Amino acid sequence: MLVTQDKIGKYQELLRRLDQARAQTDKLFDLVRPDSLYDRPIPERHRIVFYIGHLEAFDWNLLRPVASSMPPFDAELDRLFAFGIDPVDGGLPSDQPSDWPALEQVRRYGARIRESLHRSLDRPESVSDTLLNTAIEHRLMHAETLAYMLHQLPLEKKIRQPQAFTERGQPRPETIEIPDGCVTLGLSRHDQQFGWDNEYEAHPVSVPRFAMDRYKVTNGQYLEFVRAGGYQDRSLWTAADWEWKTAHDISHPGFWNPIGDGWHLKTMFEEIPLPLSWPVYVSHAEAAAYARWAGKRLPTEAEWQRAAYGSRSGAERAFPWGEQMPGAEHGYFDHERWDPAPVDAFPSGRSAFGLDGLLANGWEWTSSPFEPFPGFRAFPFYEGYSANFFDGKHYVMKGGSPRTDRSMLRRSFRNWFQPHYPYVYAGFRCASGSK
Ligand code: AVJ
Ligand code: FE
Repeated sequence: MLVTQDKIGKYQELLRRLDQARAQTDKLFDLVRPDSLYDRPIPERHRIVFYIGHLEAFDWNLLRPVASSMPPFDAELDRLFAFGIDPVDGGLPSDQPSDWPALEQVRRYGARIRESLHRSLDRPESVSDTLLNTAIEHRLMHAETLAYMLHQLPLEKKIRQPQAFTERGQPRPETIEIPDGCVTLGLSRHDQQFGWDNEYEAHPVSVPRFAMDRYKVTNGQYLEFVRAGGYQDRSLWTAADWEWKTAHDISHPGFWNPIGDGWHLKTMFEEIPLPLSWPVYVSHAEAAAYARWAGKRLPTEAEWQRAAYGSRSGAERAFPWGEQMPGAEHGYFDHERWDPAPVDAFPSGRSAFGLDGLLANGWEWTSSPFEPFPGFRAFPFYEGYSANFFDGKHYVMKGGSPRTDRSMLRRSFRNWFQPHYPYVYAGFRCASGSK
């Protein structure tokens, strides 16, 4: 087979990115004090140690059958670490630390996988770009969801990496009119870019005129809702959301802490007085209740896309600000920061319609249930990645957070979570007008 230099270059680049992604996730586990690695910071999820095994087992289960003639060396661990859990309003896992293999064994398992993969991937083009991208982005998504998880770990169990914060006055809220027009959702199979199964197929959607907030909702705005008794007003919540909120006795965002003389924010490594200019991070249920209180609603996925990438001329941009690749002037993303910036901190990231902070600095909830696009086909090598979540119980999030890798800031990327999961770096902005 003839392998061109160009293809070899691209392949080497993917291997380099896989190594970088490994360095990112290794760093995250190093933040945890060793005696806390069997903790479960989020009750609905696995213990931390599971993810140490999962990231390696995933790559191994995905790449070994095509990359290597080696047989599996520990089929039991391959299965144990194959998939995570995503219970929807269900029971909580009850396993004990002693149910898991010793840390030494998990580490040896991972090291052996990396060595074997290193040897077999080193031949040019031994696996397809798509499979390598799947391994890379899977790991980078876990780098973000692990950050959510470690965020919930008590501060004394983490090795602090302090960072200076920016706080300033809140910008004056503004609403921007978006004229009716057409927007493209999804990625074309002819595009050279990698995309997950749920990003295909590209298709136009016509969006009637509507209005959208210029900025994400801030902690300061959300505080008014809390003070106005929003969490006690039944009429602002759907039946399911109210039931969830009541069952868990939730009366404010999970990242907030009422201590002493006022509200504090639980950042990754400390408790600070609530920065009013930062985006609020809340569950979908809480975002929807706020929007109703404000006399507005959450935007649909198509509206969000139109506000972010559309323009008056009808031309669509690669990024809200234009064609330029994301840089530090466009927002907090790419593992640089642990916590967000004020909602108006990045004027260079403004969209054609004049909206600020659409990418990075916190995902944004939409009102759209996560559903397949027309022409959807599950990846044959990972059937359940999206299809397991087309259940009407998950909502699309767009944008990105400070912990989102730059590769996933592409226009077609879709994230999703269930509406009662308060641990995500996700906020929202409100829309109004026709839907
Ligand atoms: C796409 C972020 C919702 O974390 O549940 C990781 C990504 N899927 N391993 C998740 C994922 C399987 C997924 N999200
Ligand atoms: Fe996973």
